[in-house]
Amino acid sequence: MDQTSLLWLFVSSLLFCSTNQASLTVSPSRSQFFQWTSVSLSCEEDDSSAGWKLRRNTTTETRKECGDGWGRSAGSSCNISFIVDWDSGVYWCESREGATSNSINITVTGGPVILQSPVLPVMEGDDVTLHCKTKTSNLPADFYKDGSLIRTEPAGHMTIHYVSKSDEGLYKCDISSHGESPSSWISVTVNRS
Ligand SMILES: *[C@@H]1O[C@H](CO)[C@@H](O)[C@H](O)[C@H]1NC(C)=O
Ligand SMILES: *[C@@H]1O[C@H](CO)[C@@H](O)[C@H](O)[C@H]1NC(C)=O
Ligand SMILES: *[C@@H]1O[C@H](CO)[C@@H](O)[C@H](O)[C@H]1NC(C)=O
Repeated sequence: MDQTSLLWLFVSSLLFCSTNQASLTVSPSRSQFFQWTSVSLSCEEDDSSAGWKLRRNTTTETRKECGDGWGRSAGSSCNISFIVDWDSGVYWCESREGATSNSINITVTGGPVILQSPVLPVMEGDDVTLHCKTKTSNLPADFYKDGSLIRTEPAGHMTIHYVSKSDEGLYKCDISSHGESPSSWISVTVNRS
């Protein structure tokens, strides 16, 4: 688990400890996946008797529960063994009473390149590293934010130091010899302490 998810777990345990809440985590912790890889989704909850289950909206389904035509359900987790492009969508946890967790966007690509970006909101002031990857290698990559080229990185990854609200946006990357990744939204949470 990376620092961002650990921090998120810590913050959510503080926020949610006495209420009926859950937070959704995804492993590997990122928003974009190559087809045919496996993904595990988990509702981190404080009350397992509340019956938290994974649900998702895709282009063809709404509010579909894990196990009902997608994924393999075990308690409040759900695994997808071979994720494919029609698994792209928004995922969340929902209790029996209809309480909902944070939601997560997942994008699955049949293309040659993914952007590995944080799936959960980034805390203002943190450093965040984006990786542009093919299935097999790290190659020089161009990174784009909201449609504009922001950096060219010879090693295929870029770090934004001391993230601020102005870094929030839609990111993608391009490896010239292979192609472009899908776009993912990175959101920044303002630290209230
Ligand atoms: C899922 O789709 C339903 C129906 O369109 C919508 O009401 C709901 O807000 C969507 N959920 C999320 C988390 O986007
Ligand atoms: C989901 O995947 C994880 C990691 O691969 C594994 O440890 C766990 O047992 C799996 N759970 C189910 C319900 O298959
Ligand atoms: C999911 O993606 C949409 C479109 O890019 C964006 O507006 C929304 O804020 C994203 N939701 C989350 C939870 O990141």
